[in-house]
Amino acid sequence: RLMPIFQVTNEDGVAVVTMDLPGEPVNKLNAAAKAEFTQVFAALAADSNVKAVVFLSGKPGTFIAGADIEEFTQVKSREEAEVLSRDGQAMLDDIAHLSKPVVAAIHGVCLGGGLEFALACHYRVGSSDDKTQLGLPEVQLGLLPGAGGCQRLPRLIGLRAALDMILAGKSVRARKAYRLGLVDELVPQSILRRTALAAAHRLSRDSVVKRAKRGTGFMGLLLDRNPLGRRLVYSQAGKSVRSKTGGHYPAPLAALDCVRVGLEKGMAAGLVAEHREFGRLAVTDVSRKLVQIFFGTTALKKDDGVPRGTGTALEIRRMGVVGSGFMGAGIAGTAVSRAQVEVRLKDTDLGRVAIGLKAARGPLDKGLTRRRLTKYDYARQVALLSGTTDMTGFGRSELVVEAVFEDLEVKRQVLAEFEEVLPGGSVYATNTSTIPIERIADGAAHPERVIGMHFFSPVEKMPLLEVIPGKETNADTIVTAVHFGRRMGKTVIVVRDHPGFWVNRILSPYMNEAGYLLKEGTPIEAIDRTMTRYGFPVGPIALLDEVGIDVAQKASGVMYQAFGERLRPAPVIDALVGDGRLGRKSGRGLYRYEKGKKKGPDQSVYRLLGVQRREEVSPETIEERLLYAMLNEAAMAVGEGVVRSPRDGDIGAIFGIGFPPFRGGPLRVIDTLSAARVVDVLQSLAAMYGPRFTPCDALVEQAKANRKFYPD
Ligand code: 3HC
Repeated sequence: RLMPIFQVTNEDGVAVVTMDLPGEPVNKLNAAAKAEFTQVFAALAADSNVKAVVFLSGKPGTFIAGADIEEFTQVKSREEAEVLSRDGQAMLDDIAHLSKPVVAAIHGVCLGGGLEFALACHYRVGSSDDKTQLGLPEVQLGLLPGAGGCQRLPRLIGLRAALDMILAGKSVRARKAYRLGLVDELVPQSILRRTALAAAHRLSRDSVVKRAKRGTGFMGLLLDRNPLGRRLVYSQAGKSVRSKTGGHYPAPLAALDCVRVGLEKGMAAGLVAEHREFGRLAVTDVSRKLVQIFFGTTALKKDDGVPRGTGTALEIRRMGVVGSGFMGAGIAGTAVSRAQVEVRLKDTDLGRVAIGLKAARGPLDKGLTRRRLTKYDYARQVALLSGTTDMTGFGRSELVVEAVFEDLEVKRQVLAEFEEVLPGGSVYATNTSTIPIERIADGAAHPERVIGMHFFSPVEKMPLLEVIPGKETNADTIVTAVHFGRRMGKTVIVVRDHPGFWVNRILSPYMNEAGYLLKEGTPIEAIDRTMTRYGFPVGPIALLDEVGIDVAQKASGVMYQAFGERLRPAPVIDALVGDGRLGRKSGRGLYRYEKGKKKGPDQSVYRLLGVQRREEVSPETIEERLLYAMLNEAAMAVGEGVVRSPRDGDIGAIFGIGFPPFRGGPLRVIDTLSAARVVDVLQSLAAMYGPRFTPCDALVEQAKANRKFYPD
């Protein structure tokens, strides 16, 4: 190799080591980096002209993004994976045991093996930049921190704070990292290098490496030093993990165990547990699926939904949002807090605008109370939001998102009004879940600039955005919508303008089937429990209450009209809506609500539907009917080109409806089961429950040809 990964300069006796992995956008700890690092480090250890070491990254936005995930995909056996982890531990042990102080200067993303690297250093200086984020996301890949992270993190910031980070795999920003004691100093990026050098000089003069201990606090320390207190923390953490993962994800429990072994039996035992468990987890099906999702999501970040080079994104600085209801306010608030653009929110009367603005400020208020935002940033971002009831102030908007009532005529009228005032070249997006974009854009002066942006509720939290070009939408408009969606923090899939688009299309038969089950008297709790056990975050009945039964009624009506008998709505929805049960928002639905809190299933539903509760339906039957209805529809929609690739379909299902990530998505599930088996099961379901289960042609052909969605 011509280019070295690590550049070393000696500055007054401090070796400054800069990592810059050639030809890669981020630094990662791959085999080559580990090998070179070991050599470089041995030389530094032996060099008497070196009193201390500063470690820096040469990449603009990353310190180190972790171990090389690509390498994990090559691993064939548990033993091989164990070796990867053990080698990483050994390399970081060299740093930790070096007799000269090592200072990490962290700017940008510092994740997984990258944070473990920083933890092995003796002192950490962080840049206060927003780009700086520290975390151990391994569990999100079905793994655990396997290079000493389960050992060093609790020793540095205390047991509870460490478990919070390790078990959820969430990263923290610089300021929080400083509060936790994860970094020892926090400085602007401009003086990061200088500060780290000064620290290295200072530490090299001290005989013992001294650090201020912060973060864990008095109570934290008391608890950590007390074996009974620790046991309590382990057991609470274990309980919370079990309830969150439903037993589907082995990684967090394994990580908890490695932390426990390390603290109770010493670091050496902890490291052994860590590499053993890492080896075991790396070859699990769960981890393989989660890694596939990581690469799928990463590839999606670069896919604008049009052939490369065919469209140019407009830079959005000012946007309009029409309709200040729950959706509109959510879009406005997320646009301000994530994309930091000026947002003008319009509605028909000032009262509604005021309510919308208040709701839009929600994410900012939360940022302030959680100390993610300074008062200054809060004030600045709040000032980006304004409201209006007329058409003033939209003349310079590059983007308008309409989120008014789902009514074709109203939507057309709003579009016509805005076409009058919007500057040339701007983009007009409509947030609809059911109305074809083509029909909204029909008759528009500039249909090439009209596009669908289907956000999910609540906008701030839901990670997916469907972008739907109409027949005449041009490439610039598509790319603009996709890029802006990403700036709002969303994973974006570009889908075909076909009823229900992707997410609601595959959800529709699933929800209908839940209705059929209910109509047969299947207990509400049995239906929901079966699907949460399968891995969905909520069951279909609870989802119905959350979405709103009237909303579901409308959507299912549209789907029925478009697709006919197969998607005939289950005969329960009308009765429920007729009884005034609209779900959580009305305080009455299929569950009971008291003061806004969800209680158990509402038993009076069965009488309303004129059915007897039937306990005997087995969970296997419930699962099969619900799941296969969705699988069949998904295969059919792929065949119709609703999504551009199986990857988009699976990621859409996972991020849009919470399809269990560890199963890889509905299309992966079909591959895993084989199309032939899915066809068989669908045929027997059709024989028992009716032709709605008839396997679609796409699936039958796939079975005949023995094809997969992902030929690997
Ligand atoms: N391994 C391999 N490739 C990685 C990587 C990693 N840890 N992190 C990033 N990349 C690659 C991406 O695949 C992408 O490759 P491509 O250009 O060929 O498509 C490229 O780097 C740039 O990544 P993004 O497009 O995602 O860039 P962003 O700036 O949007 O995001 C990031 C950067 C936040 C670092 C994001 O890539 C990320 O979250 N990476 C994964 C971080 C992670 O999970 N680390 C833990 C790894 S496991 C581990 O360390 C085990 C240890 O405990 C032993």
